[in-house]
Amino acid sequence: MPETTAVVEMRNIKKNFAAVQALRGVDLVLRHNEVLGLMGDNAAGKSTLMKVLSGAYIPDEGEILIEGKKVHMADPLDARRLGIEMVYQDLALANNLDVTSNVFLGRETVSAQLIPIGVLDSRSMEQESKRLLDRLKIDIPSVRLLVERLSGGQRQAVAIARATAFNSKVIIMDEPTAALSVAAISKVLDLVRELKAQGASIIIISHRLEDIYSVSDRLVVMRQGRKVRDCPVTGDIDEFRERVVAYMIGARDDFANAVVD
Ligand SMILES: Nc1ncnc2c1ncn2[C@@H]1O[C@H](COP(=O)(O)OP(=O)(O)O)[C@@H](O)[C@H]1O
Ligand SMILES: [Mg+2]
Repeated sequence: MPETTAVVEMRNIKKNFAAVQALRGVDLVLRHNEVLGLMGDNAAGKSTLMKVLSGAYIPDEGEILIEGKKVHMADPLDARRLGIEMVYQDLALANNLDVTSNVFLGRETVSAQLIPIGVLDSRSMEQESKRLLDRLKIDIPSVRLLVERLSGGQRQAVAIARATAFNSKVIIMDEPTAALSVAAISKVLDLVRELKAQGASIIIISHRLEDIYSVSDRLVVMRQGRKVRDCPVTGDIDEFRERVVAYMIGARDDFANAVVD
């Protein structure tokens, strides 16, 4: 499939929470094997848009196409079956369980292409989770470690590895580098590059411009429930920073008609 094909297309997505218009008609395209950066101030609607894409929220209006086909997702399981997986900001790991159990959490719900969890003994589950971590070059001393014993970066890596366990083609990460050390951030960014090298299409939300710059092919900026900019990531970092700050504070946007470079 050519790289320019859209794997995801969201059209005119609207979502209200009581009086709050979280999404006011957002269009978003994710191309095959692309890393899309998503930025915007707090409350811009980034997480809500991604929760719509991962089936956690049902939009009030709009449509979603996956590889050109219109889909209806009632819950995250529907999204998972379509190959879309989201790593939530709070990671949703079970801290009192070991790495293997966390990698397998929720996996019993996908039957088609995976081995049913019931037939796996604990040894083969350990081998399988080790294989997933190794494939992503994640360095964790033992898959028997309790997640509560891991560092923040290692936990993030486990959450990402779990997302890849479903053979997902679209992986969404909500602020994966927030609250990590510099060394851990760089590992998570390596992980994003590795996922891309292995063929995934990725959306990464971050308030860290350096992260977006270093891994993304394209940037979408949101503000007050709208997409205000959609542009390739180009230029040197200083020039990129200057442009993005202008988009975020609204100096360059046009609300009626998001600028697509
Ligand atoms: N479950 C919810 N219930 C009520 N309001 C919500 C809910 N989720 C998000 N919102 C509101 O929607 C707006 C967009 O939020 P969000 O998508 O989390 O923004 P961002 O991720 O860009 O910071 C905010 O005003 C937020 O308070
Ligand atoms: Mg958010």
